[in-house]
Amino acid sequence: MSMNIESKLNQFQFIARDVKKSYWTANIETKALDGISLNVGKGDFKMILGPSGSGKTTLMNILGGLDSADSGEIIINLGNGKFKDIRKFTNNELTNYRRKHIGIIFQFYNLIPILTALENVELAARFSGISSPKKKSKEYLSELGLGDKLNRYPNQLSGGEQQRVAIARALVKDPALILADEPTGNLDSVKTDEIYKILKKLSEDYNKTILIVTHDEDMANKYAKEHIYIKDGRLIRNQGKGVG
Ligand SMILES: Nc1ncnc2c1ncn2[C@@H]1O[C@H](COP(=O)(O)OP(=O)(O)O)[C@@H](O)[C@H]1O
Ligand SMILES: [Mg+2]
Repeated sequence: MSMNIESKLNQFQFIARDVKKSYWTANIETKALDGISLNVGKGDFKMILGPSGSGKTTLMNILGGLDSADSGEIIINLGNGKFKDIRKFTNNELTNYRRKHIGIIFQFYNLIPILTALENVELAARFSGISSPKKKSKEYLSELGLGDKLNRYPNQLSGGEQQRVAIARALVKDPALILADEPTGNLDSVKTDEIYKILKKLSEDYNKTILIVTHDEDMANKYAKEHIYIKDGRLIRNQGKGVG
């Protein structure tokens, strides 16, 4: 007997079809995404590679609900058998999506400077509506080796430590999908390796779906079997087994 639609879809974190996005400046069109179709499985750990300006950040921002596509569809698996086209979200659904279902890790950490490490994580935890936000924030920070630095402010932490706070902030809400856009672009090679190791372990321990944009082909090869290559807003290669 064939699988029903739900159990087939349930293998996927998202299914994107022919996603297009242009930016217009002074009547000049830049096709940032020129028809991207991509399936990512639940629990996948994938690297996104491609030259500067190829559309990687645009893709991440659209997946994360920070920007919107012009056309195409992106069916996202929100868990509990719920599948939604993120292009069809209402404003409330979009806010909810960003707060509960997506964890984003940026190159420059984007921590709130007037809040301590713990408070930065706790704020995201509260917005997501999880229970025991403070307790869970402490647990994640401790797991990431920052148990003794909970009350430090961002400017009292090293770059690597700030990025670990940002990782805790992304994870504490238990999101369906974690997106990291050049998370180590600002770190030296030792710290870079440490951050990749942490992300890889998190994906294995919690079966999280993690997509990481990187310039670093060596790190990509070291930590992920599956790479997505983008050039000129198109997918040129989706290496690896994937699903479907
Ligand atoms: N807000 C914007 N306004 C105009 N053009 C943009 C904007 N954001 C990105 N672009 C253009 O879209 C293309 C893709 O950019 P981006 O997704 O940032 O690439 P990448 O992250 O791979 O370096 C580039 O040509 C870039 O200049
Ligand atoms: Mg970018």
